[in-house]
Amino acid sequence: MLFGCFREVLSVAYIVMSPVPAFVDWADGRLQVPGLKVSEKKLGQLTGIFRDQQAWSRLDPETIVYRVWWWEPVPSGTEGGLFWGLTEIQPGRVGKEYFMTRGHRHVVRNRAEFYGTITGTGKLVLMDASGRTWFEDMTPGSLHYIAGEVAHRIVNTGEVPIRVTACWPSDAGHDYEIAGGHGFNARIVEERGAPVLVSAKD
Ligand code: 6PG
Ligand code: NI
Repeated sequence: MLFGCFREVLSVAYIVMSPVPAFVDWADGRLQVPGLKVSEKKLGQLTGIFRDQQAWSRLDPETIVYRVWWWEPVPSGTEGGLFWGLTEIQPGRVGKEYFMTRGHRHVVRNRAEFYGTITGTGKLVLMDASGRTWFEDMTPGSLHYIAGEVAHRIVNTGEVPIRVTACWPSDAGHDYEIAGGHGFNARIVEERGAPVLVSAKD
């Protein structure tokens, strides 16, 4: 009798304490979880990111370039924890350069990250600590391992939004001072209707 009562208390406690999972709509990457965080970047906030500053200043600063939704199941900075997010970049260009994220390295340099493309097409631009810059093609289903130390930026080269899901360590942090403020060594621009990687100096 006493044992039965104890068992009941235990099962109630289990129901109260059992965590509710988050939900991902795998068709579009949309996340559903209490406390979901969101941030958006408009053209006007992306100062100095695009090469053609004249073209940038002619565009509407209120234009949304990208949004990020993410879930922090543990507090930011927790060693050993993970975050999950979704980045959506709109199609568009500033001059010849496609809409893209600011790009960053992780503050804790050895923290790696996974990116997975859900919809759309683009390029994942990567730059290592020596300045070597390259890209990987992003298409639905492409899964990208971004090693620690490597700066990363998503470029939308398509005509529809690109949606990319990501998983990264909760103590990684973001460092936007790429190469002491000089940025990536190469950019993705449109040439004769196709995206190409060109030196940032060109
Ligand atoms: C991260 C991820 C990713 C990234 C967004 C926006 O480390 O958090 O790489 O969520 O932050 O795609 O890109 P920016 O942080 O470069 O603006
Ligand atoms: Ni990152």
